[in-house]
Amino acid sequence: MKVLVTGGAGFIGSAVCRHLVGEAGAQVVNLDVLTYAASPAALASIQEAQGYVFERVDLRDRAGVNRVITEHRPDAILHLAAETHVDRGIDRPADFISTNIEGTFNLLDAALAYWEGLPAERQERFRFHHVSTDEVFGSLGAEGLFSESSPYAPNSPYAASKAASDHLAAAWHRTYGLPVLISNCSNNYGPYQFPEKLIPLMIVKALSGEALPVYGRGANVRDWLYVADHARALYHILTKGRPGQTYNVGGNCERRNIDLVRRLCALLDDRRPRADGASYGELITFVADRPGHDARYAIDASKVKSELGWMPQESFETGLAKTLDWYLANEVWWRPILESRYDGQRLGLRRGTA
Ligand code: NAD
Ligand code: DAU
Repeated sequence: MKVLVTGGAGFIGSAVCRHLVGEAGAQVVNLDVLTYAASPAALASIQEAQGYVFERVDLRDRAGVNRVITEHRPDAILHLAAETHVDRGIDRPADFISTNIEGTFNLLDAALAYWEGLPAERQERFRFHHVSTDEVFGSLGAEGLFSESSPYAPNSPYAASKAASDHLAAAWHRTYGLPVLISNCSNNYGPYQFPEKLIPLMIVKALSGEALPVYGRGANVRDWLYVADHARALYHILTKGRPGQTYNVGGNCERRNIDLVRRLCALLDDRRPRADGASYGELITFVADRPGHDARYAIDASKVKSELGWMPQESFETGLAKTLDWYLANEVWWRPILESRYDGQRLGLRRGTA
């Protein structure tokens, strides 16, 4: 099987490419424009592999997207490329609208034209898998879980742009018959996550002896999933999912932010004790809340488990420890990012004007 992966140089996309090439034996064409969030180093283990091809193309370049699809003639498209950081979307929503909405439109339309020209047997097998987020469902109260039938109620510019792209993908199925699959996943964590997101940011700041900024009182809840488990879920959905269906993916692993950060500090105390013997927990600082901060996300993943046989392999304890050990061993990966592309400053407090 030849899969066109978009955003394959990103955090989840690179885990997907490694899984497809390494474990599933698939051919991969990786379409990625390499924004600040991309990490070509995450692909080092497969870049020489037979059947792996990289195409530096912007989703917003319709001619470029057309060329990649018609030249490589994939059996499936796994669409991950997006602007993904909620706080950046508050500061500068424009890229979120153009990449997440217009870019997805370009890809859907190019895929449709290609699919319509395929012989019947290849048309039957073709899949367009749109990868999305639980943030499209908005915010939960203290009880309940997001299911596949939860109403859309996005709050942030990022969530609204992903919701729009989900609706486009669903419309290309209902209106034109393109065999679309959609998945909505909870928060991922693991190696190669850009250090703007909560877990890697806390690790790199702690190791630099800097304050650990917890938004509000740290009471917001996220449902965490180890990235390799998400990559396997996406493969299950791509290969076994039913066109026109949506699948929710999550780790059944809810944590309040403050509890997560305290746990991370305790692990760090154990693995890399501070020179003065103080706990990393003393660096925790409560800061101004994120505007429009969703209170709680939690996923009911029973459909992907019962219909497609997927189960996460990592518990939060094992996954968090693995992740921390990876960041401890790979300062050579994250230090240059802090020195060149993102120095850890607070994002997402300004009103978006561009
Ligand atoms: P990421 O920010 O780490 O990587 C995004 C990748 O997309 C980068 O390699 C970037 O270069 C590429 N990209 C961005 N704009 C592009 C454009 N215009 N053209 C081509 N390539 C472009 O993202 P991630 O965290 O790996 O998320 C991947 C997907 O999964 C996204 O669609 C996101 O909405 C979804 N998702 C993420 C999470 C999470 O916790 N990270 C959870 C659920 C769903
Ligand atoms: O739920 C899935 C989503 O998870 C994905 O769709 C997004 O692409 C991904 O970025 C993530 O969004 P979040 O906003 O939940 O992730 P983030 O790591 O930015 O924040 C996690 C929680 O931690 C959130 O409640 C805000 C809080 N936070 C975040 C940062 C960066 C802090 O308290 N301090 C921080 O410095």
